[in-house]
Amino acid sequence: MKNTLSRLYKKDKLTMITAYDALFAKIFDDIVDIILVGDSLNMSFFGESDTLSATLEQMIYHTKAVCNGAKKAYIVTDMPFGTYNTPQKALESAIKIYKETKADAVKLEGGAEKADTIKLLTDNAIAVVGHIGLMPQFSRSEGGYKVKGKDEFEKEKLLNDAKAIEEAGAVMLVIEGVKEEVAKEITESVSIPTIGIGAGRYTKGQVLVWSDMLGFFNEFKPKFVRRYLNGAEIVKSAVRKFKDDIISGKFPDEEEIY
Ligand code: KIV
Repeated sequence: MKNTLSRLYKKDKLTMITAYDALFAKIFDDIVDIILVGDSLNMSFFGESDTLSATLEQMIYHTKAVCNGAKKAYIVTDMPFGTYNTPQKALESAIKIYKETKADAVKLEGGAEKADTIKLLTDNAIAVVGHIGLMPQFSRSEGGYKVKGKDEFEKEKLLNDAKAIEEAGAVMLVIEGVKEEVAKEITESVSIPTIGIGAGRYTKGQVLVWSDMLGFFNEFKPKFVRRYLNGAEIVKSAVRKFKDDIISGKFPDEEEIY
């Protein structure tokens, strides 16, 4: 049964994972509540050093693939950098995503300054997920990935951002790279579910990038990532075995020929 918003709202804890293709979306679909087609795909899937060059076409292509693989999970697609810098542009971009894919919601980064945009999208029948705290699309302008909520000013700003996003009509809120006690306060101050990534233990849900948590992306491991699998090593040893079998003449054998 499809995970609708009303079903998600009834759950105590929410599990979200990223996916970029039908193969992995199908594997995750039975288990998780929400699949995020994150613009992190520009880094882990496409090999770029940040998310900024992700395009709308790229996001639509990967969202279509994820929707082909996942039938139950609620699917959220990231709006890439530069596709929502005015409310009108955001509406056009979000309509394109909704028309060309089966995404349930779009996610956009930003605080109170994005409230008008979120309201316009919501008023036009597009579900929006907010994203505050450490916002990867700001990594170039802010000179890196900075944990937020470290002082009173940042805390007040985050609380104000969360309230504005909720009032504008967002259906969920991702909180990334925020001090645990601040993420807890935000979670308690809004009625929409909060999904944390590097935001401590008290958000309603948690999200991780699949290639981080399954050990396929090993160049850098943020503190908040827990590796549940040593994916790269498992795959490498299988491919090494394949190569060895070819060289030794063990593959293919009698049962693998016509
Ligand atoms: O792009 C992404 O994968 C994200 C998560 C880090 C929340 O936005």
